[in-house]
Parts: sequence; C-alpha cells; structure tokens
Amino acid sequence: MAQDFTPTESGLMQKVVALCKRRGFIFPGSEIYGGLGGTWDYGPTGSLLKKNLKDWWWEEMVTLRDDIVGVDAAIMMNPRVWEASGHLEAFADTLVECKLCHIRLRADKEEEKKEHEKEHAEKGEGKVEWTNPRRFSTLVAAQVGVIEEDKTNLYLRGEITAGVQINFRNVVDSTRVRVPFGVAQIGKAFRNEITPGNFLFRSREFEQFEVQYYIRPDETEGKKWFEYWKQNRRDWHLKLGFKKEHLRFRDHRDDERAHYAIAATDIEYLTPWGWEEMMGIHNRGDYDLRRHQEFSGKDLTYRDPETGETFLPWDIETSSGVDRPLMFLLMDAYTEDADRVVLKLHPRLAPYKVAVFPLVKNKPELVEKARTIFLALKKAGISTAWDERGNIGKRYLAQDEIGTPWCVTVDYQTLEDKTVTVRDRDTTLQERIKVDTLETHFR
Ligand code: GAP
Repeated sequence: MAQDFTPTESGLMQKVVALCKRRGFIFPGSEIYGGLGGTWDYGPTGSLLKKNLKDWWWEEMVTLRDDIVGVDAAIMMNPRVWEASGHLEAFADTLVECKLCHIRLRADKEEEKKEHEKEHAEKGEGKVEWTNPRRFSTLVAAQVGVIEEDKTNLYLRGEITAGVQINFRNVVDSTRVRVPFGVAQIGKAFRNEITPGNFLFRSREFEQFEVQYYIRPDETEGKKWFEYWKQNRRDWHLKLGFKKEHLRFRDHRDDERAHYAIAATDIEYLTPWGWEEMMGIHNRGDYDLRRHQEFSGKDLTYRDPETGETFLPWDIETSSGVDRPLMFLLMDAYTEDADRVVLKLHPRLAPYKVAVFPLVKNKPELVEKARTIFLALKKAGISTAWDERGNIGKRYLAQDEIGTPWCVTVDYQTLEDKTVTVRDRDTTLQERIKVDTLETHFR
C-alpha cells in the first residue's frame, strides 16, 4: 500500500534532502571546500527538473499569451537603481548578536533566540546576553572595475524586479504592447539572509520568476487584476501537481507588507514546520515607475494610443522563487511504498520521461537494440535515461526515485516481434508496446 507523506510528517525533509543528494538532484554548494552557507548546486537530474519548471512557467506566461513579453536584464545594475527602488533603505533586517558565540539572529525571531539560549545552557556555557538590535542590509555588495581606486561599488540584485522596471520605456518603445500588458523575467537574485536554512527554502543565492503586469492606475482595475493573478497562480500550482490541501492564500497584514506594496497576498505551502510563503502577488501601484522616473529624470509615463491620456501605470506583480516551489514539489511528490520510494512528479516536470534498459548487459544483440531505441527517443527530443547496471528490479527502483514515468525494457521477445515492455512508475503495471509506436505513445 503506497504511503502518501503529508508535509507535516516529521522526517520528510531529511528524506527529501537525502534523496536529492543520492539521485543527483541537489548538492550543498562548494561541498568539497566545506560548503558555503545558503548556496546549493543542482546536479544532472535537478538541473533538468528546474529547467522543466522554468520552461513550463515561460510557456504559460509568455508563449501562450498575447499580453506578456519577456526580458532578461543584467544582474549587475547601476547602484542608483537600488536607491530609487527603496531597497538601500528598506531591504534590511534588524539583528542581535549572541555575546557568547557571535551568531547573529533576527531580533524579532523569539523562538530561534530561545532555542539558541537553550543550546548554550544545555552545554553549560552560561546565560546568553544579546547585543542591542542593529540594522544590516540584506543586499549583497560587490565591486566591479579593474583599477583598485576606480572600482564601482554595487549590489547584486536582491529581487529581479528592478531590471524590468528600468526597461519599461524600452519595452513600450520597441514592441507593440498596450496596457494592460506584462513583462516576464526569470533570473538569479541574491540576499544576505541572516539565517539561511531549511534546505532550499531560504538561500543566499536563488532564482525567481516574476511578471510585472502593468494596468491603468485605478483602484477598481487594481482589485480586478490582483484577484485575477491570485486565481491564475493558484491554478498554475494545481496544474503542476500540488495537492490542493497543501496550498492556501494568506493576505499580508499592514505591518508586514514590503515597502513597495499597496496590497500583498502569499500563496503558502504546508511544510513540515508549518505554513510558509511559496510566492507572492503584490499590488506595487506606481511605486517603481514613479521612483525610477524621479531618480533617473527620464519620462516613464505611458501614453494611451486611443485616448491620448498619459499616466504612470500600476504594476500587479506575481513573484515566486524557482527553488522554493521546486523543493515543495519534491516534498509533495515524495511517496513511500512497502519496498520503494517514488517521486510522483508530473511527467512534464520529471527529469527523464523514459528510461531504456537491455534486459541483461552481456547480450550484445539486446544492448544494441536498446541503444538504438534510446538514441531514437533522445533524437525525438524526449528526455531519456539509460541504465544497464545491476538487475532490472534495481533499475526500476532507481528510476522511481528520480520520478521517471516510464521504463522500457528490451528483452528476447523484442528481437522476435519488435515489441518492448513499458512499465508505469505509479502503477508498476507493464504492457507490451510496438517499438515503432513508442514515440507517439510517450507524447
Ligand atoms: N519582487 C518581489 C519579491 O522579490 P519576495 O516576497 O521578497 O518578493 C518572492 O520574494 C519569492 O522569492 C518568495 O515568495 C520566495 O518564493 C522567493 N524567495 C525570497 N527569498 C528567498 C530566499 N532567501 N531563498 C529562496 N527563495 C526566496
């Protein structure tokens, strides 16, 4: 009987982390040098999964729509961008430092502070004293330039949004977009998180996919599009295969909204440690365009071609990490059977759609036939894995852990009637399929 793990079940996180390492999904960043906190490297299967997720997102947001275009802006930007966007001032955390071991924690995280005090007490190291709270910028500083004294101090982007906002004029002037329209982007963001942790959940380097959707500056329009994007994003997550009961909306309180937001709602996921933000929908009003117009001195208004009205559009943003939902997808897909672990990923997300095996590896005629099928599927653009190690049972188990929906085995019958067995990941049922119909079958 398959056992579906609810994400609140203890141990799920450890199991997913171990599987990610074992099956080449995700490794700790810079591992052989002792690691670098808050960074992760995607391996052969993980990079395919991540690419599939990003490709699907891009298809939904850009390819299939006629009101959204894409950009790919630079990570390094003129430092004035961050003054204008308000991040230099607002993108900071208030921290306290433990006077015993100098670890810094967020001043508002009472639970974490108590836990830390307990750890010192249990080791007999005495009572923790905390420093007065101090503000630390979350932006990651960098320098660019070859000559020491001519170096420019800048920041790696803390969110990918600014690259879209500063190109608003360029996009309007170079394309046929008309309000309402959106600009989509996928890319890396960097944050000096004080306490990175919970695997990919809070990292210092991570990826985001976002759409800035520009609308007429109007309360009613704002509410309409905000609601539209909330539903649109919830539906997208369900399409990805998330279990409905593991998702919920949560509106931000007035005192927790980001400095740019008039309204904000998160889609949250039920993690083993409680409900957590997976992504956010924000009404940014005209905050960004107004500030960039003010700081750059460039006109960023939009002129309606039909009415001739000129205005600064409002921006309804959908902002998600890539890594965070990816981790939640792995948790939702993780299933344990009596004798196997299965990642029940949506076939579109699965790193490999198919794995091809020869029944045994010491029969050249079987290996050659299996190799031909493997290469033909790859050439047809179907992500396909090859395995000839161990016995068939072990190969099935390995592919189940990677989430490969179908395994093809070439056996002696294949040589006689040109059929192969195709085994289904979820049911483990096998059927015989003609080799020349395999491609159509998988599509
Ligand atoms: N442009 C708006 C923005 O960046 P955010 O709520 O700060 O808003 C959006 O971040 C999403 O980015 C989050 O919902 C989460 O999915 C992801 N994210 C934020 N910080 C992260 C971190 N340190 N590690 C991994 N993902 C993160």
